Amino acid sequence: MTNSGVPAPVAKRQIVVASNRGPVAFVRDPDGQVVARRGGGGLVSALSGALQASGGLWIASAMSPEDRERAGGVHLDPAMGAAGHDLRYLSFDPRMYDRFYNGISNRVLWFVHHALWDLPRMPRWDRATDRAWASYRRVNEEFAEALAEEDAPTKAEPAYLVQDYHLSLVPALLRARRPNARIAHFSHIPFADPEAFRTLPAAMRIELLSGLLGADVVGFHSERWAENFMRCCHDLPGATVNLRDRSVRWHGRRVLVRLYPISVDPAALKEQAASEEVAAAERRIGRWLGGARLVLRVDRTDLSKNILRGFLAFEGFLLRNRRWRGRAKHLALLNPSRESVPEYRGYVKDCLRTAERINAELGDERWQPIRVQVQDDYSSALAGFGIYDVLLVNPVRDGMNLVAKEGAVLNTRDGVVVLSENAGAYPELRPHVLAVNPFDVGATAEAIATVLDMDADERRRRAGGTREAVVRNRLEDWVPSQLADLEMVTHDR
Ligand code: G6P
Repeated sequence: MTNSGVPAPVAKRQIVVASNRGPVAFVRDPDGQVVARRGGGGLVSALSGALQASGGLWIASAMSPEDRERAGGVHLDPAMGAAGHDLRYLSFDPRMYDRFYNGISNRVLWFVHHALWDLPRMPRWDRATDRAWASYRRVNEEFAEALAEEDAPTKAEPAYLVQDYHLSLVPALLRARRPNARIAHFSHIPFADPEAFRTLPAAMRIELLSGLLGADVVGFHSERWAENFMRCCHDLPGATVNLRDRSVRWHGRRVLVRLYPISVDPAALKEQAASEEVAAAERRIGRWLGGARLVLRVDRTDLSKNILRGFLAFEGFLLRNRRWRGRAKHLALLNPSRESVPEYRGYVKDCLRTAERINAELGDERWQPIRVQVQDDYSSALAGFGIYDVLLVNPVRDGMNLVAKEGAVLNTRDGVVVLSENAGAYPELRPHVLAVNPFDVGATAEAIATVLDMDADERRRRAGGTREAVVRNRLEDWVPSQLADLEMVTHDR
């Protein structure tokens, strides 16, 4: 509601988005010119589309020297393959940025929220943590400062859509500068349960929770992550949690905790999948398969994706089902990610070594059971989605997981998704997928065998059901439903 008690029309409000990674990355072309390259994915389309409609602004971090060269104002126009709106990149001292991005966002928050600690050894808090935390706070402050500077062209306060764990402190920092701002924060990743959250230093926990509670609406992809957040808020002095109506009373305001499970854009995916590059990739994969059945995985090289246990599960499947030897192959298309984090480099090495060992022990000159490709290769991913028999999506934990959804929309072979119970997508897709506990290698092996031995009717029913569940949840509703909830907030304090 506005101050006069009349709901402001959603479209009249300017939208301001803040995220660490921006919708385009600037790169140097062969002539030495800095040009914009659009980031893929539904999130960019959903947010850019809403920004274009409202004439808004997107503020992000400059993540490379080329981004830093173009920091300041840029107008994205559709000729760049992006929706038309303004974009501003904030440029930080590279060492401070590294402490913010790798030191805290990737090595502390990512780990705690995905339950990735190796508890007898990790985490260890020391002075380096304090230093990194000070940089995290500083970057969040600069974001809040830049957001607060935005002058709304209309009388209504803008709607601020703050994205993800990199910017957990921004809502409170922005609220201090713009008390009447309408702020939504959205976490695209899981939220730690209270036990795991208590591994963080007490002061950090308080700052993180009170940072998020600066928002009017705190959004998650799935019920579990929203509940974990509220259970963590129970421990925050001064916060009153109401689990039934999903809200937290904090500093005289009622903060709504809401679910907005994101989806994919089926039409855009199908258009991308119809390209000549994807057709060529499909032919390459087909030649490699040589008539074998395809067990596919498509992931970033991230510890949370559980790639290693996926390989062990495929090995277990082959060991227990000799009849499938030579007749099934596992393709892992892995997109390199966060290579400056030592745990990630070590994990990729372990995965590659394990795949090699399995190939050496079970394969022969005519049949190599596992093929791993570590490369940014979206065309092969789209091609693989079209033709998999089993799509293995077994993350330790995942905020949502769009691979399961993209695969289901593009698959033409009645392929079935084997899905971790700990993926945010699980509640939506549950009736149609084969669910696995991601730690249970034996059960995952069995699920692969079950799909490959499944009769055609059941495969068709499951593949169709998964696809329909994805299509029913429309990507274009994702931003408007958050904006509608922001309009419900009363600013009468
Ligand atoms: C995944 C997560 C997002 C996160 C992103 C960051 O896609 O689902 O929540 O923002 O990773 O990845 P980056 O490469 O920017 O560290």
